[in-house]
Amino acid sequence: MAPMVAAYHNDVHGGAGKSGIKVTCVTCHLPHDNVLNYIFTKARNGVVEGAIHFFGNPDAIDWHANRAKRDHFVVDEGCIGCHTNYKTNTNISAKGLKMHAHYESLKNTDKKIGCASCHAEVGHHGLKSMLNYYKPEYPYYNGKLDKKKEEVEKKLSETLK
Ligand code: HEC
Ligand code: HEC
Ligand code: HEC
Repeated sequence: MAPMVAAYHNDVHGGAGKSGIKVTCVTCHLPHDNVLNYIFTKARNGVVEGAIHFFGNPDAIDWHANRAKRDHFVVDEGCIGCHTNYKTNTNISAKGLKMHAHYESLKNTDKKIGCASCHAEVGHHGLKSMLNYYKPEYPYYNGKLDKKKEEVEKKLSETLK
């Protein structure tokens, strides 16, 4: 769990930005529209929930592979609750607005994508690298990133003090 938590604290959503906001884990990971949906998603969404509560054995989870399905365990309504005008805000680049129109056009189709499909690592700045410090994707790096891992843990323990 350390890579997820450390990457969270390195992100603007986790207090690392100028605004200093700290978005709670469940805002992005669990729906709040109604209690039944909340419980259902809690049950189905073992990936994030399990990790949050330290159930089971986190070493048995393939975190790298999960990243490919990241839009499945992120709740877009959570993002939109704050980024209410992501479709119309002219401070967003033309490319961004075009991509957001594309997102909107796929919304109720079977080609639906999520905010996190494009905004990888949002909420967890540097997650991919940090996961590699803990469990390298390629065996070549086994044992070679331990120093990085120590640095992450040192910084995290200072942040959590
Ligand atoms: C509680 C409100 C809140 C929620 C929920 C939230 N954001 Fe943000 N987001 C912000 C604020 C405030 C900033 C500006 C932070 C700063 O710069 O200090 C921001 C910044 C951003 C940025 C620009 C900075 C960056 O990281 O690239 C993107 C993109 C973004 N958010 C996307 C998302 C997505 C996607 C989600 C859902 C997975 C989400 N946000 C959830 C409030 C929120
Ligand atoms: C198809 C890809 C795609 C999807 C899906 C997508 N975005 Fe974006 N978004 C972008 C691009 C590209 C930009 C512009 C980035 C830039 O100009 O640096 C952007 C910009 C943003 C910004 C402004 C960040 C900044 O620093 O300028 C926010 C906030 C944001 N998106 C939120 C969202 C939210 C919330 C969702 C889901 C409702 C979402 N996006 C879905 C591609 C996407
Ligand atoms: C701003 C929204 C946001 C917040 C807040 C947030 N997350 Fe996430 N989380 C995401 C996104 C987006 C991903 C997918 C990132 C990626 O793989 O690029 C993710 C991925 C994860 C994963 C799965 C990693 C994997 O590879 O399988 C876990 C576990 C997780 N988050 C736990 C947490 C915990 C615990 C917190 C609170 C400390 C938290 N998240 C806060 C948006 C958020």
